Amino acid sequence: MSNIGSRLDRKSAIVTGAGRGIGREVALKLASEGARVVVNDLDADPAAEVVETIRSQGGDAVACVGSVTASDFSERLVRTAVENYSGIDILVNNAGYTWDNVLQKMTDEQWYAIIDCHLTAPFRILRAAYPVISAAAKAEAAEGREVFRKVVNISSIAAGGNVGQSNYSSAKAGILGLTRTIAREWGRLKINVNAVAFGHIETRLTVPLTRDQSETVTIDGREIKVGISEMLAEQSRKFIPLGRPGTAEEAAGAVYLFCLPESNYVSGQVLICGGGFGSI
Ligand SMILES: NC(=O)c1ccc[n+]([C@@H]2O[C@H](COP(=O)([O-])OP(=O)(O)OC[C@H]3O[C@@H](n4cnc5c(N)ncnc54)[C@H](O)[C@@H]3O)[C@@H](O)[C@H]2O)c1
Repeated sequence: MSNIGSRLDRKSAIVTGAGRGIGREVALKLASEGARVVVNDLDADPAAEVVETIRSQGGDAVACVGSVTASDFSERLVRTAVENYSGIDILVNNAGYTWDNVLQKMTDEQWYAIIDCHLTAPFRILRAAYPVISAAAKAEAAEGREVFRKVVNISSIAAGGNVGQSNYSSAKAGILGLTRTIAREWGRLKINVNAVAFGHIETRLTVPLTRDQSETVTIDGREIKVGISEMLAEQSRKFIPLGRPGTAEEAAGAVYLFCLPESNYVSGQVLICGGGFGSI
């Protein structure tokens, strides 16, 4: 028997970077309420695992593997949603990583890699989604129906500034400008465009490491360092009013709020999900 709820019954959802961490939990949460999910990730195996998990729970999901920064990616992503689920109702721009350095040591490659992933890719995906979304919205308007669609862009409290993250904080601040602008441009299509800015969420990006430990991940063929120092992890606990970092599941809960019909009259907003810590 299926345990699938019906709050997002048969909505077509896209979640980028959904193979791990926060994106994975967002995909599982949306699917658990009946959404049919296009699961994107750079890496095929984690994407396949999420699709399999959703299907094993009685849900519907399909993978679209590839980097959000690839030039032909946004059209392929949109095509996957249209061919499998006949449109797009929910789009979560989540894929991302950090590649830190102080400004004087940051290379152009480092700068553009992060801007491309966190800001240019969401812009391109939104642009590619427009014809599909606007055609559906216009048809619904002609029938006198109001159907709300949801875009949730993922930002960070680093948008307010963070040492070593001039590339990332600029991209995460940029996505807030994009969010507020598209909320105004697409309001006539009944599209809610909002952002969630995370504080410290426990994923592989923020795994605490001792001085002698070092972890890397491969992103677009580059070895990128991940993790934070144990000292920083300890400090962050002290500053977070709720006393600990968030889990990926809790982070997904904040995204889910913007996908519900109850948030139909909320657009152009930023929700900080940081356990009480952080401002933008
Ligand atoms: N973890 C935190 O504390 C935190 C805080 C603020 C914001 N965020 C943001 O949340 C989002 C998710 O991060 P996470 O912590 O879950 O990280 P994560 O590494 O656990 O998961 C991110 C997923 O995105 C995928 N990915 C990375 N680059 C990609 C690309 N170019 N194309 C397609 N997929 C790609 C990765 O393969 C990975 O599976 C990111 O945008 C990140 O910047 C995280």
